[in-house]
Amino acid sequence: MNKHLISAADLSKDDALLILDTAEELARVSERSIKKLPTLRGRTVVNLFFEDSTRTRISFEAAAKRLSADVINFSAKGSSVSKGESLKDTALTLEAMGADAVVMRHGASGAPYRLANWIRGSVVNAGDGTHEHPTQALLDAFTMRRHLKNLEGRKITIVGDVLHSRVARSNVLLLSTLGADVTLVAPPTLLPVSVGTWPCDVSYDLDAVLPKSDVIMMLRVQKERMNAAYFPSEREYSRRYGLDRDRFAKLPDDAIVMHPGPMNRGMEIAAEVADSARSTIVEQVANGVTTRMAVLYLLLGGEI
Ligand code: CP
Repeated sequence: MNKHLISAADLSKDDALLILDTAEELARVSERSIKKLPTLRGRTVVNLFFEDSTRTRISFEAAAKRLSADVINFSAKGSSVSKGESLKDTALTLEAMGADAVVMRHGASGAPYRLANWIRGSVVNAGDGTHEHPTQALLDAFTMRRHLKNLEGRKITIVGDVLHSRVARSNVLLLSTLGADVTLVAPPTLLPVSVGTWPCDVSYDLDAVLPKSDVIMMLRVQKERMNAAYFPSEREYSRRYGLDRDRFAKLPDDAIVMHPGPMNRGMEIAAEVADSARSTIVEQVANGVTTRMAVLYLLLGGEI
């Protein structure tokens, strides 16, 4: 394992499998009545969040606490960032407090790379701009493995706003490392120019891809990052790329439906599909805790 986890591309197949297998062991511990392990006692994990988050921030906090680390939660709102303090000075302040690992979410793609140059501890990317969200990809792969056993040769379809999605990029990188066949489906306006260099296929026809999918992962339409009209209307987007009841019926009987959250119910995914028995959306959140425990455990070198 590298010292930092900033991109899913940092992970070899062996690294990724080690994290997923460790997460399985930690999930077994989490089923016990006493879930806490002494593994990271005396270590300090800082959650440094410059962008809003529910799932990632809370699950990293829960993960660090279950491993007995001291946890410092920093949110840019209400901090000296509002007085103009720079990212570097914020990082050096955290360094002075003895951070062994900094879990960072930031609106700027690449910000965790800058942070890694300024601090001695490990940096974990919890989502940077439209770049990457590697621990989301790990928890997604963990969830898929639980349902499909082996990801080798499995057909994973990722649908929607790929252009603004750090989840899509990290998933394509990690899933291809793990041997899965990934297809991205999106309107041409919501695909990055560089998508031709990604290790995946691209389709514009969701209905054609559905019957061949073992997993369908719907992406949130990130309206807050859109500064132009990428599709004619929300209704038209839903009609062409939304997962509604009729499209759900075209999936193989054992296919699962995923979404990293938060969802736009009724837009990219119908409420009845999101709440169906084959949806893993809530399970993904639970798996986020054990997967992030595994990442912190392996980066900080604890012993189970
Ligand atoms: N999936 C995800 O990153 O969710 P949050 O923005 O709530 O952390």
